[in-house]
Amino acid sequence: MNRTHTCNALRPADAGQTVTLVGWVDTKRDLGGVTFVDLRDRAGVTQVVFRPGQGNLQETAQRLKTESVIEVIGQVTARSADTVNAKLGTGAIEVVATSIIVHNICADLPFPMDDDKADKVNEDLRLEYRFLDLRRPRNLGLLKLRHAAGRAIRHELDEQGFLEVETPTLFKSTPEGARDFLVPSRTNPGEFYALTQSPQQYKQMLMVAGVERYYQMARCYRDEDLRADRQPEFTQVDLEMSFIDREDMYKLIEGILKRTWKETLGVDIPTPFPRMSYQEAMDRFGIDKPDTRFAMEIQDFTPLFKNSAFKVFNGAANTPGSVVRAINAKGLADLTQGELTNLETIAKSQGAKGLAFIKVEAGEWKSPITKFFSEEEKAALKAALKIEDGDIIFFAAAPWEQASNVLGRIRLESAALLKAKSRLSLPTDQYNFLWVIEFPLMLWDEEEKRYISAHHPFTAPVKEDEPLLATDPAKVRGQHYDIVLNGVELGGGSIRIHNPAVQKRVFEDILKIPQDLVDSRFGYMLKAFSYGAPPHGGIALGFDRVVAMLAGRSSIRDILAFPKNQNGRDLMADCPSPVTAKQLRDLRIRTVEEEAKPKA
Ligand code: AMO
Ligand code: AMP
Repeated sequence: MNRTHTCNALRPADAGQTVTLVGWVDTKRDLGGVTFVDLRDRAGVTQVVFRPGQGNLQETAQRLKTESVIEVIGQVTARSADTVNAKLGTGAIEVVATSIIVHNICADLPFPMDDDKADKVNEDLRLEYRFLDLRRPRNLGLLKLRHAAGRAIRHELDEQGFLEVETPTLFKSTPEGARDFLVPSRTNPGEFYALTQSPQQYKQMLMVAGVERYYQMARCYRDEDLRADRQPEFTQVDLEMSFIDREDMYKLIEGILKRTWKETLGVDIPTPFPRMSYQEAMDRFGIDKPDTRFAMEIQDFTPLFKNSAFKVFNGAANTPGSVVRAINAKGLADLTQGELTNLETIAKSQGAKGLAFIKVEAGEWKSPITKFFSEEEKAALKAALKIEDGDIIFFAAAPWEQASNVLGRIRLESAALLKAKSRLSLPTDQYNFLWVIEFPLMLWDEEEKRYISAHHPFTAPVKEDEPLLATDPAKVRGQHYDIVLNGVELGGGSIRIHNPAVQKRVFEDILKIPQDLVDSRFGYMLKAFSYGAPPHGGIALGFDRVVAMLAGRSSIRDILAFPKNQNGRDLMADCPSPVTAKQLRDLRIRTVEEEAKPKA
């Protein structure tokens, strides 16, 4: 190609030059016998003018459809002062065309390419035509942002002495994570690989191997129910270090994020980040990834209701482990019945029996429950929750964890309602980073009637809590840390167990994984640890979430080149898709539908 400049290069100083530009027809206008084409490439837009009287040059331009690909030779000309377009980098010049090559005509567009209109088009349609959707400058900008963020992270890790190592994505299915994507092995009939949910075990093996500082932009695969912040395949900035403690890890990640924000957005984020224990996060915000940009904090009223006439609160207040807690959704008293019902449904989805509330309007407390409250109870609520006209108070009377979960959800939903009513504004350039630490090592799973790892089974207990492993596992804190930004879990990691005996005990005695399963699924790890495993720890940042936060997007689909939709489908390539009977035979797989068919 003879391209001499990009579409964002020419300035008045270039006037008089003959140039060759290539790109897509962004817009086309016919004005006073002249045809104007805004030509667009990855870099920007340049106006090209086609005048009559040069063979069929102008007719060719007139017939162009938008998004067709052309190559133009022409002369750079300064625009007159009144026609300068200040919005374009090249707005002070135009290129007067002397010849054109049409490389490809674009078919009828499935949706308008104008950013503001296209953003409103149904997402599934945009994903089907993702090659067009991505071509929009706004979306190409997101790919550029992702690239810049990746570059900043790689540079920082390189400077910190990290070795980039690729690890397999065809791995072993292991219990204790999310659901695996399985891959049948043709050469080992009846056996399966699992796609890696993360390189967790490989990176620990790299520590045993003496790599000391490892990182990888790792593809991860999890067969989970999808949400705006979850894709079946996603990318982690995955890293692991030997001979370090939690403080080293905090410093490293703060440095990476500081550099990333600076080099992509030019924003200085203050470090070190604040830290909050899991207990405090749950107590105050009802969630382990609190959005601290607004308050609406949870307050405890358990002692206040110990003698209450309201049976529900009295009952909880006198049940060990149960609490009565409340939040004040300030200024939300005028929510609609529909909105209130929705909040109740959310509370019930967390296991609550109900969602008691008090609406305060015109000096009056409107509520089905205040008739049971004493003057003393009312005064105490009023003072602690700073209750005023226009407020609505929500209560949860339940076991601690459930009450936290309920009010945590109600707090976020209330904030969303207040935002929609323009009563809460969250500046887009506010970045509240937060370390959440001191998670419990184990959580009791009521369904499975056993402990499960809060993070994963390789996380080391906090040293002074180790003796509790045998007596009271629920009280053991893990050396686990999550990095949270504005209510989004950006990443998580931990200091690991490096002693094979402790690891075996966690698998068998605490998690109650049967010994034969421990041997078959984790045996190699325990073996490796007996050959000189260094103390080590690591973390993984969800790279897609980091980029989405930089871009100010709530969906990570926006910042992935080819995301799957909510149902895990690639709508462009239309997959997952059926395979041939021969492929299945080779893999010795029979689908259930086939089996279910009545025999002929
Ligand atoms: P964890 O499971 O917490 O830890 O994952 C780390 C980070 O990865 C991101 N993430 C996801 N992003 C998009 N879609 C998903 N489905 C998805 N699942 C997770 C999140 C999350 O914080 N091996 C450990 C890390 C370690 O201990 O070093 C791990 O994978 O941002
Ligand atoms: P009841 O006495 O069951 O009619 O409940 C009175 C009010 O308290 C209703 O508005 C319920 O939704 C609410 N409620 C009931 N149980 C709880 C609970 N555990 N926590 C908070 N509110 C509750």
